Amino acid sequence: MSLLALRNVRAFYGPLQALHGVDLELEAGSITALLGSNGAGKTTTLRAICNMVRVTGTIEFDGRALNGLATEGVARRGIAHVPQGRGTFGHLSVEENLQLGAITRRSRREVDADIARAFEHFPILKERRGQQAGLLSGGQQQMLALARSMMLRPRLLLLDEPSFGLAPLVVRETFDRLEEINRAEGVTVLVVEQNAQIALKVADRAYVIETGRIVMAGPAAEIAASDDVRRSYLGH
Ligand SMILES: Nc1ncnc2c1ncn2[C@@H]1O[C@H](COP(=O)(O)OP(=O)(O)O)[C@@H](O)[C@H]1O
Ligand SMILES: [Mg+2]
Repeated sequence: MSLLALRNVRAFYGPLQALHGVDLELEAGSITALLGSNGAGKTTTLRAICNMVRVTGTIEFDGRALNGLATEGVARRGIAHVPQGRGTFGHLSVEENLQLGAITRRSRREVDADIARAFEHFPILKERRGQQAGLLSGGQQQMLALARSMMLRPRLLLLDEPSFGLAPLVVRETFDRLEEINRAEGVTVLVVEQNAQIALKVADRAYVIETGRIVMAGPAAEIAASDDVRRSYLGH
């Protein structure tokens, strides 16, 4: 069953239309990659889901419409959004960032248990728990953003270019952790990437977006093998 379904979604920034009828479905428990070059509409697709842009069309999450919910209401339905640039608080410690990620949660004990679990997935964050987030390396900040978003206990995780600005080895590690979290926690993932190579390694399915339109969709292995994708996005 699909957990999230976008049908004929158009998105607008004032007079500018950035999405032109996007259809997209995420199977529960899967990792889906949305690939495309700069300006294609990847970030806007995530903003459309979170109702941060003006949208027409339908967006259903778990069989119910998201349209009309405020961004905060979308989060409460169980959708965590890690924006481009990560959105962690640089002046706060690692642990404070994790606690803030759990701000909508009630049970102190559950939050503490989740922080302990985040430290199991990300041992480096445990070592650095008292350090200011702004002093972490780029890779560690991305791990923190991931760990923080999981503090909501989301059913769906939206990630905007987690590889951005990271060295190749660090990118690899970030995606390994992402795969581990998907498997261990059963969270459904939509990851937006310009780095098609790494995203296609962990994704079950992939979509390619160009100038606000989905131009290709299918199992990640098929997308990776397509001549067009190899030429345009994989460089071989
Ligand atoms: N805040 C904004 N105001 C106006 N236009 C925007 C804004 N954000 C993005 N756009 C435009 O929408 C289109 C899609 O952008 P975006 O979704 O950010 O692409 P991507 O994330 O794939 O690089 C681009 O043409 C971009 O210039
Ligand atoms: Mg973007």
